[in-house]
Amino acid sequence: MTVTYRSGLLHLDNLPIDALADQFGTPLYAYSKPTLIESARTLDAALTGHTPHLICYAVKANPNLAIIQTFAQLGFGADVTSGGELFRAIQAGVPLDRIVYSGVGKTSGEINQAIEAQIKAFHVESEAELHLIASIAHFFAGSKAPIALRVNVDVDPHTHPNISTGKQETKFGIAWESVPALIQQIKQTPSLRLIGLSVHIGSQITELQPYREAADRIVGMARILMGEGLPLEYIDFGGGLGVRYSDESPPTFAEWGRTLRDALGDLPLTLVVEPGRSLVASAGVLITRVLYVKQTPTKTFVIVDAGMNDLIRPMLYGAHHPIWPVTQRENAPKMAVDIVGPVCETTDIFASQIQMPLPESGDLLAILHAGAYGSSMASNYNSRLRAAEIMIDQAGTAHIIRQRETLDDLIRGEHFLP
Ligand SMILES: Cc1ncc(COP(=O)(O)O)c(C=O)c1O
Repeated sequence: MTVTYRSGLLHLDNLPIDALADQFGTPLYAYSKPTLIESARTLDAALTGHTPHLICYAVKANPNLAIIQTFAQLGFGADVTSGGELFRAIQAGVPLDRIVYSGVGKTSGEINQAIEAQIKAFHVESEAELHLIASIAHFFAGSKAPIALRVNVDVDPHTHPNISTGKQETKFGIAWESVPALIQQIKQTPSLRLIGLSVHIGSQITELQPYREAADRIVGMARILMGEGLPLEYIDFGGGLGVRYSDESPPTFAEWGRTLRDALGDLPLTLVVEPGRSLVASAGVLITRVLYVKQTPTKTFVIVDAGMNDLIRPMLYGAHHPIWPVTQRENAPKMAVDIVGPVCETTDIFASQIQMPLPESGDLLAILHAGAYGSSMASNYNSRLRAAEIMIDQAGTAHIIRQRETLDDLIRGEHFLP
């Protein structure tokens, strides 16, 4: 997303933010379709090699239909982790044979839904899940459920512990040592068809080394299984590539792609990945309006109309999102401020002690790199209405892609006792 000042006013993809805020209200998520497309094409090119590849967009990063649709129209598949995400992917037009389903807690209802839909594969995360999928597939007379085993490769992704999934002590994937026994069971189960292996070690990964290690392990396992005659079709190397929020320097798509291709070597398998954040984070901005500026004996608080219910990353992971004033105030005194939301939690803080020209009530601020795990993790906490979302297309037109919630939305489905 191009975020630039023109005559002292911040613009997103050439549109002045003040006009967007006036038209659509705040808080407001704004996404750039050209940025989504550019990221998608760059990644696609980076993965191109001597075997086919498939990018399954991790819907959890931002599940808005218009975002999934944008990727689907570029030939992407989807990685889903619930029946709800599967529903969204189907609604957004993702071809069923490009949908993979990860997650440690798939319910029988969700497994039914996915078998009926005939998705590409389940990424199985436990023996108990394997048995449940087998029995449901058996029930669908003669059906063979396509599966891949998500293997826990016990690799430390060197990221925030809350988004680390590759280590043995986490709940994710099937322990390395358990794989051979599970393979024997799959071979003896007519309602299962093993077509791949998958791995996903964490999110916001900023080094290549963990990817190398994980990829080498999973490729090594694939070689052994194929040597034993198992007809694998793909390896899914997961997602997790980090983005630059402030001073991180994550690998580029090209470096990531090369690492995975190198690991795959001459194996005649489709290379699958399931990135989320790296495709959408920088394509989104959260626009918020300053409600009050509050001086206390120790601090200056800038209280804005977005809260942790709209963007929980700073509170949940101590994440730093750059925050830029929409109107540059050359003459305002620069000072250290805390930018906080209205939610009744001390941790409702977007930035602590950052230097900025002191904003005034009514000013707008732009919270950058908010396209991933922003709106997707939003809630109604404090009975706040979830924000509207817009997308700016290639022609520079802003479209509403999610209405701001109403008070009626807030209580939909609730009942008084008779
Ligand atoms: C199984 C799986 N695949 C893909 C992703 C996407 O990760 P990211 O958004 O960091 O690329 C996640 C999220 O952690 C995940 O759990």
